Amino acid sequence: MTLKETIAAMLAEVQAFQAENTDQLEAFRIKYLSKKGLIPGLFAEFKHVLPEERKAMGVLLNELKDKAQERLDAFRELNTTDETSTQRLDLSLPSGEAGGARHPISLVRNQINGIFKRLGFIISEGPEIEDDFHNFTALNFPEEHPARDMQDTFFLHKNPDVALRTHTSSVQVRVMEAGKLPIRIIAPGRVFRNEAISARAHCIFHQVEGLYIDKDVSFADLKQTLYYFAQELFGPETKIRFRPSYFPFTETSAEMDVSCNICGGKGCNICKYSGWVEILGCGMVDPNVLEACNIDSNMYTGFAFGMGIERITMMKYQINDLRLFFENDIRFLKQFESAI
Ligand code: PHE
Repeated sequence: MTLKETIAAMLAEVQAFQAENTDQLEAFRIKYLSKKGLIPGLFAEFKHVLPEERKAMGVLLNELKDKAQERLDAFRELNTTDETSTQRLDLSLPSGEAGGARHPISLVRNQINGIFKRLGFIISEGPEIEDDFHNFTALNFPEEHPARDMQDTFFLHKNPDVALRTHTSSVQVRVMEAGKLPIRIIAPGRVFRNEAISARAHCIFHQVEGLYIDKDVSFADLKQTLYYFAQELFGPETKIRFRPSYFPFTETSAEMDVSCNICGGKGCNICKYSGWVEILGCGMVDPNVLEACNIDSNMYTGFAFGMGIERITMMKYQINDLRLFFENDIRFLKQFESAI
């Protein structure tokens, strides 16, 4: 066999080579590429080649060496270990084994949106960076209200007129200002409050607020709407109750509790053995708010409500630490894969 034929035969062998494990790959390296291997051996024979053939033969030899090295690198890259047979390695399979899933906050927000959509509410959105008028003044917050304090609200650039919205009631103001009546909207979105982060509080959280304004809207409409909502979200056995409360932008104001969906009202540690869990604030829109938004309060009345999605999600799925929502721990998120 001439040197040329030997090179060609070896090239064919190298290209046909398959490694099933690291031992075979190492044996290949020793056989062909190590100092005493076959390819350096051929280089040693190079001195016997006729001068006029040297150039062509050099090209062939270098090609053989490169191909052998490529083969070695390719199998190393495939991470050929004793356990992984290259025969079983199917590179056409889709990468990664886990599919995505919805975040629990998104799941519950979508459920809440869906319930109100069925009642004819439409979704409105507004900016997260708000001015004083839309977040406070139009909503009848008095000058000295604590929410206007740096301690409670994130002001931007120390400018008392620009802040991160503390509730999505600011969206309701924008909708009222736009002046198209009647109004039946919900405003889901992120809100910001300057609170220490703990198992029960965070400086960022999510709300859904709602607003209904028309002629002759009464507290009975509010009650029926929220009763339907509670039963849709927590099940047909759910009861509701209202407790008197105070918000600057509503009069009458109330807080609504639902019967604990964990113990059915008997008492457990989720409802602190009271049988009830508070889920939202609500009330009849204060006439001052309607007037601030150029709506005739003698002709129109309305109700508003607002709830935190985190709190409702914690109750629905028995989650005991609010911080879990923000940590993106895959072990937590995976538990919601089958939820819709
Ligand atoms: N905006 C209130 C809050 O952030 C919730 C609320 C909305 C209460 C509408 C009453 C009516 O807590």
